Amino acid sequence: MTTWQTPSSVPTLKKNEVHIWRAELAVSPQQLQEYSTLLNSDETKRARRFHFDIHRNRFTAARAMLRLLLGRYLNCSPQEIIFKYESHGKPTIENNALELQFNVSHSDNYFVAAFTLNHLIGIDIEEISDRAGADIAERFFSASEYEAMMRLPEQEQQNAFFHIWTQKEAFIKAIGQGLSFPLKDFIVSIQAPAKLISIKNASADDWHMQDFFTYSNFATAFATQQKVNHVKFFNFSELNNKTF
Ligand SMILES: CC(C)(COP(=O)(O)OP(=O)(O)OC[C@H]1O[C@@H](n2cnc3c(N)ncnc32)[C@H](O)[C@@H]1OP(=O)(O)O)[C@@H](O)C(=O)NCCC(=O)NCCS
Repeated sequence: MTTWQTPSSVPTLKKNEVHIWRAELAVSPQQLQEYSTLLNSDETKRARRFHFDIHRNRFTAARAMLRLLLGRYLNCSPQEIIFKYESHGKPTIENNALELQFNVSHSDNYFVAAFTLNHLIGIDIEEISDRAGADIAERFFSASEYEAMMRLPEQEQQNAFFHIWTQKEAFIKAIGQGLSFPLKDFIVSIQAPAKLISIKNASADDWHMQDFFTYSNFATAFATQQKVNHVKFFNFSELNNKTF
């Protein structure tokens, strides 16, 4: 079972520890206005490009929450964070003395963020929906994953699909390569608990893969390249009110 704490400030992140945060992206108009002041000009331009308000607002809230958390971990203001982007778009932080690593994911109204020190990390949240299907699994999963999934009772296949999918996204987001990395080239568990079983031409031994509960009807997993001592789960909501 995942136990979510609601801290009054951002706790210290220790070596080989992982902090996971969750939040809802629908916020009050006043909160949204405050959040929008935290974005830099590029992010504001990106927000303006969304066609629908709901998507613009979710992007603004998610980016502001990320800046607020990073600011607290790095002991600076949220506006001072300077992102740089790797070749496939993974954001990292410039002048990062703490070597803080992070990754975020959002699905519908929900946001998750993962933080650790010195080691690659990726996270993914997905709504469990009818998008799952044998054809997508056959196209993207390895043959052994696809076949094992299809051998499950039909009513378990949808959960298995998103269990596999979130682990795959968490891994490709950790390494920063996104969908340019073939999802067939590594194998994960079919059902809980999450596990990175093997990677083509590389060792899976130094990876930690974990699935966990965030919200009903959502699958979530993170992957990090280290032996993890401790994983802590935090709600963003209370912290939110004390931020400004
Ligand atoms: C990374 C990727 C798997 C994300 O999938 P998704 O399920 O749509 O999105 P999620 O909500 O889980 O994650 C989005 C967040 O991941 C981060 N992200 C973006 N690219 C990333 C990457 N390559 N690796 C890790 N994280 C990435 C960002 O913080 C992004 O948040 P933002 O949109 O608010 O900035 C997908 O977008 C992808 O494959 N991108 C690569 C694209 C590429 O190769 N581009 C080449 C560009 S030149």
